[in-house]
Amino acid sequence: MRLVFMGPPGVGKGTQAKFLESRLGVPHLSTGDLLRVAVKEGTSLGRRAKTFMEEGRLVPDEVIGDLIGERLQRADAGSGFVLDGFPRTVEQVAILDRVLARIGCALDGVFILRASEAEIVRRLTGRRTCPRCGAVFHIESRPPKSAGICDTCGSALVLRPDDTEDVIRERLRVYEEQTLPVAETYRGRGLLREIDGTGDAETVRGQLEAEIVRR
Ligand code: AP5
Repeated sequence: MRLVFMGPPGVGKGTQAKFLESRLGVPHLSTGDLLRVAVKEGTSLGRRAKTFMEEGRLVPDEVIGDLIGERLQRADAGSGFVLDGFPRTVEQVAILDRVLARIGCALDGVFILRASEAEIVRRLTGRRTCPRCGAVFHIESRPPKSAGICDTCGSALVLRPDDTEDVIRERLRVYEEQTLPVAETYRGRGLLREIDGTGDAETVRGQLEAEIVRR
């Protein structure tokens, strides 16, 4: 199964994509996670991406194209993948089309999650992530057992640098301007499925499962 997850920042793409990774047995490939690793490791790609990410702007298409093109050709993506946060511009749709043509496969579906701006700001300002193992929590809806400490590896949880309210607003503006046209491209190809992302994570998961079974 080859799927794309779309939706505004903080709507729950990563939460649901991780669930599908274990449900379908295919890797969850998040360009945001790949970029954060590159920034942390201080690679030349990471150094190039850092300022764009901190300011809530998109990293240039050619940088993302190299990153995801290499990742999609690894063996574990051979039987499928769940893409999260890519493609995010119409040019990235063309990049993905070229990569898929090269490896001889096609997308099975594109899910777009939706939620109100107020709910998105609530989710992102309350999100806490583990800088060591990448686990994601929320201070209200998914609190760690011990406040501020990762349940999985015991590290101190942090607020992502781009999860401040002014950067969240900029990410939302960029999403509407540059990423919503991607949804229309996939709607035109008959691949887009809309999912109401406003319920709790279990409710959203149920809708996704129902959509996948219907396919
Ligand atoms: P990226 O990491 O992709 O960030 P994003 O799209 O802004 O999405 P998030 O990871 O913030 O949110 P999410 O939807 O995964 O929500 P989550 O499940 O964590 O990108 C970061 C930056 O990298 C970009 O701004 C850009 O600079 C760069 N970048 C990345 N990809 C790029 C690309 N293709 N091109 C160019 N630049 C790129 O959930 C959020 C919180 O809500 C969590 O605390 C969670 O526990 C909670 N939650 C989840 N679901 C629910 C629910 N149903 N009810 C209640 N709480 C919930």
